[in-house]
Amino acid sequence: MTFRSLDTADLAGKRALVRVDFNVPMEGGVITDDTRLRSALPTIRYLSSRGAKVILLAHFDRPKGQRVPAMSLGPVAGPLSALLGEPVLFGEDCIGADAYRTVASLENGQMALLENLRFHPGEETNDPAFVSELAAFGDLYVNDAFSAAHRAHASTEGLARLLPSYPGLAMRRELDMLDAALGNPQKPVLGIVGGAKVSTKLDLLNNLVRKLDRLAIGGGMANTFLAAQGHDVGGSLCEHDLGDTARAIMASAKTAGCELLLPVDVVVAREVKPGTATRTCGLDDVKAGDLILDAGPETVKRLIAAMDASKTLIWNGPLGVFEVPPFDAATVAAAKHAAGRVKTGQLVAVAGGGDTVSALNHAGVVDDMTFVSTAGGAFLEWMEGKTLPGVAALEV
Ligand code: 3PG
Repeated sequence: MTFRSLDTADLAGKRALVRVDFNVPMEGGVITDDTRLRSALPTIRYLSSRGAKVILLAHFDRPKGQRVPAMSLGPVAGPLSALLGEPVLFGEDCIGADAYRTVASLENGQMALLENLRFHPGEETNDPAFVSELAAFGDLYVNDAFSAAHRAHASTEGLARLLPSYPGLAMRRELDMLDAALGNPQKPVLGIVGGAKVSTKLDLLNNLVRKLDRLAIGGGMANTFLAAQGHDVGGSLCEHDLGDTARAIMASAKTAGCELLLPVDVVVAREVKPGTATRTCGLDDVKAGDLILDAGPETVKRLIAAMDASKTLIWNGPLGVFEVPPFDAATVAAAKHAAGRVKTGQLVAVAGGGDTVSALNHAGVVDDMTFVSTAGGAFLEWMEGKTLPGVAALEV
């Protein structure tokens, strides 16, 4: 993939339309996690310090083409300005007279955030008329929102086709890191895929078994594989109807030469409650009414050995019900081991997708991985091997 580089852009006095992902968790108008704001700062500062007028475009939540006051980006402007240490103007609309006034008032190096793009239906339908209205405010387009790149929307795809377009610094780093993990990795490569259900990760598993040297499957989805192999999983979460699918994935892995690592022992309990009585047992000792809630120590030992035999790790999804200790043990032990190997330069570890970031945070190692993506759907689609429209549109 080849992209234009911002280093080559003529920025002084130019209006840069910058797509960011400010779809941040918010409670009562207060941002509870500003990671996505922070990740946009380098690009904003880069453009501003080179004299560009920075016009930030973003969506928040899913207002479905209506103006929904509770989904305004207004509460984001203040915290963003505080992080930047610079004023950030807020435009009450992203097109029309108000947006025009906001953009026209910017001096070189100043920045403005425009209201939620999704208040207009043309954003999600990628309506050419809406794309043109947005494009009229910019001389160039920068996309720094990898986490929204799986959407072919006006601001993620349409604009890139109308204006000279560039990936932002965070987007660039994300693409480089993902390439280092799956596109062009140092081999051998180990994947860890966990989470509740096989059904939500079918495309991902099918893609990974063709690309990786080893794939460890954990979490609730491992139960579906164990059941497909004929093990009794008691009352555990299990998609019994997906037995054939699980067997087909195991067969593809075999054909492709990908070693599948399934649990060899498990931690069971009668209920998912902190401090509840637990039992570690072999696969053939799970009783009716038992719930498999974590991988056992022997499984963790094998996973750690697989990490030690790998140069690259790609991780999506926890190995157990990590939110409820002690069922966090396998996830925490694996995460700490990966972090240790990254620190000593023996492993490139890239993780991402929904629960994975919370699980690594819980293990206290989120900053020790080589890269952790905060993208949810975009990270999964990329792991599935799909082309992300927002990335494809930036290619030259
Ligand atoms: C996200 O939060 O994953 C992105 O901002 C995409 O949001 P969406 O799923 O509403 O398109």
